[in-house]
Amino acid sequence: MIILGIETSCDETAISILEVSEDKKAPNLAVLGNTIMSQIKLHAQFGGVFPMMAKREHSKNLIPILKKTLEQAKLIKNDNLENKKEKEIEKLLEREPELLKQFLDFIPTIKKPEIDAIAVTYGPGLEPALWVGINFAKALSLVWNIPVIPINHMEGHIVGAFLDKNSFEKGGKLKDVEFPAIALLISGGHTELILAKSVGEYKILGQTKDDAVGEAYDKVARMLGLPYPGGPKISELAEKERLEKNSERPFVLPRPMIHSADFDFSFAGLKTAVLYTIKKIPEITEKIKQQISKEFEDAVTEVLITKTYKALEKFEVKSLVVGGGVIANKFIRQNLENLAEKFPVINIFLPESNLSGDNALMIALAGYFNYKSSKKPQKNKDFKASGNLRLTDL
Ligand code: KG4
Ligand code: ZN
Repeated sequence: MIILGIETSCDETAISILEVSEDKKAPNLAVLGNTIMSQIKLHAQFGGVFPMMAKREHSKNLIPILKKTLEQAKLIKNDNLENKKEKEIEKLLEREPELLKQFLDFIPTIKKPEIDAIAVTYGPGLEPALWVGINFAKALSLVWNIPVIPINHMEGHIVGAFLDKNSFEKGGKLKDVEFPAIALLISGGHTELILAKSVGEYKILGQTKDDAVGEAYDKVARMLGLPYPGGPKISELAEKERLEKNSERPFVLPRPMIHSADFDFSFAGLKTAVLYTIKKIPEITEKIKQQISKEFEDAVTEVLITKTYKALEKFEVKSLVVGGGVIANKFIRQNLENLAEKFPVINIFLPESNLSGDNALMIALAGYFNYKSSKKPQKNKDFKASGNLRLTDL
């Protein structure tokens, strides 16, 4: 089957086309097209993501991205669609005038591509942004008469770690992830430890009580006068400090909840501790930024590693799967790899570096798992955006 994935939950507009064919042992894959348009530069001017601006950008970019991705997949054939369903499309996209216009200008001029289903993120995320992707998916589903599969973005991050470089080739395979597994999800909006019995069967072991890891990175970066998103910049400075191999540790930050008996996290206190530290310093030099970044990253990493260690110790699992934008961080990656080595029976699965951030390939792949699973109820076609959707709500 061929699945079109659509992702608009935050500040990336992404579309992918994934072909999956069943094989006796494991499915054969081929990525036919994959496009991501990032809005980061736009939001960076304002220091963070503005939902209404994200929504407008998604509206503007979805059709050009779809066109590009269909071209990559060689699925465009010019035609004159007979049943344009114009009235229904107008109603569906009435809140997205720009998308509506581009939709009506393009979609009726091509033949229905060989796509069997559409997978779209319906939560968690920014609701105005999610709605654009959802309504777009519903409009395409109407015109092409194919089903829409609503996808939980965090499940996307879990299965995104199953793809490796060879998954992109025709006949490529997924990594051989054995279950049960512990999943650590670390993104801009989430920090969660999950026990997964299989794809689709999740138990939330613990989660952040306040800020997510990525959010803490972004907020600390802003305090230090660093650009949005803060993660990459802080980790760059921390790395520089680490390379300078200073034994002194001028700033000491807390490791919140590191010894709590549960699997929950809290990063708001750490962020506030950075604020108090900064307030006491008359001049924040580059060197001080480096030192604070390193201490902050060490604190975050120690907490993540300690909690994940506890989860791996407590539950008899075969895999550790990590997903979410923060896993682009080399130091955290390395520390998680070192952690997994302590458990000889556990294999670790991290996303490829180009797939750690938001993308639509992970959504299309989650669509495949959802489509073939009989355990999960299919949502009816008038499903809604769900900003706070949990993994257990699937
Ligand atoms: O998964 P993602 O792309 O979007 C959400 O679903 O939230 O994650 C984005 C988050 C941002 O907070 C960003 O600062 C963080 O991932 N991030 C990083 C790094 N690269 C991105 N955090 C730490 N180190 C990085 N290298
Ligand atoms: Zn994400």
